[in-house]
Amino acid sequence: MDLQALRSEIEAEIAAAASLEALEAVRVAALGRKGRVTELVKSLGRLPPEERPKYGRLYNELKETLEQRIAERRKELEAKALEERLARERLDVTLPARERPQGRLHPVSQVSEEIVAIFADMGFSVAEGPDVEDDWHNFEALNIPPEHPARQMQDTFYLSSRDAKGQPLLLRTHTSPVQIRTMRAGKPPFRIIALGRVYRRDYDMTHTPMFHQVEGLVVDRRTHMGHLKGCLQDFVRAFFERDDIPVRFRPSYFPFTEPSAEMDIGCRRGKDELVVGEGSDWLEILGCGMVHPKVLEAVGLDPEIWQGFAFGMGVDRVAMLKYGIPDLRTFFEADLRWLRHYGFLPLEVPTSWGGLSR
Ligand code: DAH
Repeated sequence: MDLQALRSEIEAEIAAAASLEALEAVRVAALGRKGRVTELVKSLGRLPPEERPKYGRLYNELKETLEQRIAERRKELEAKALEERLARERLDVTLPARERPQGRLHPVSQVSEEIVAIFADMGFSVAEGPDVEDDWHNFEALNIPPEHPARQMQDTFYLSSRDAKGQPLLLRTHTSPVQIRTMRAGKPPFRIIALGRVYRRDYDMTHTPMFHQVEGLVVDRRTHMGHLKGCLQDFVRAFFERDDIPVRFRPSYFPFTEPSAEMDIGCRRGKDELVVGEGSDWLEILGCGMVHPKVLEAVGLDPEIWQGFAFGMGVDRVAMLKYGIPDLRTFFEADLRWLRHYGFLPLEVPTSWGGLSR
């Protein structure tokens, strides 16, 4: 019997086994209970006794060699099987965990987040106040005298309940009372914005009985009109995402600021369009001024030590301007088609470094 030939044949079978199952079949055929090598070992008993040790050694050597080859091949095939499985079960961990959200952010929410992002970068924090106010916070502390037209019944929504002084409660007509609440609750310096709903008796293309304002207040020891101008100019340029927007300040009147101004931005008016940031027309965008000494006194601050500036702006109005929405009333109609058209993707949070609107 040619042991060398048998060994080569089986080694070739081992090398050719393409899978773990094929390799196992080769192993059984050679080393299994009825395998060819096993039969050889069994046949030892039929040899003359003096030849048995020699053939016993040769058969054992063959058996061990083949076992070793099979073990090596098994390792190779296992590694290959693992590679294949990894390739087959590949998982892209960069895929989004959820589908694109179906809902949309309302333009007022979007624009509010944009405004907060810009002022947060300038070191402002966000303050809040109640929608139901009393006369003192909404008017009196802001130096709005009793005969002021803003107090009249056609402007203000009064409630039937009254405050401790017997004055009727009301729905705040602006966010300015948050200035008062902030200054009463803390210690200067202050640097806050306050966003929220305000209410007035009004209804047409550009007025709704509820709308949104953002208020700003900065109080420090040496705050002056230059700070006001720089801050608001930086703001509108960041907000409209154009570095070249012309701005101008016009003298104006508000009871709670002295001097007072209105800020205009450059614009161009076409037949059916309004382009912000270029052209020779002007568009009023916000009211502002240096905080009136009487307002500082009303909250217990010494106007000889503390000065500040304040501003107030319509959130809905700048949303209309920035995103080209013609009618304010549609903001509050809860029309899903409108929201799909004018709304924003909720997971794209506006930041000044990643982009405000995309
Ligand atoms: N409160 C004013 C309004 O509702 C807006 C405003 C003007 C707020 C000037 C301010 C300001 O803080 O300084 O029309």
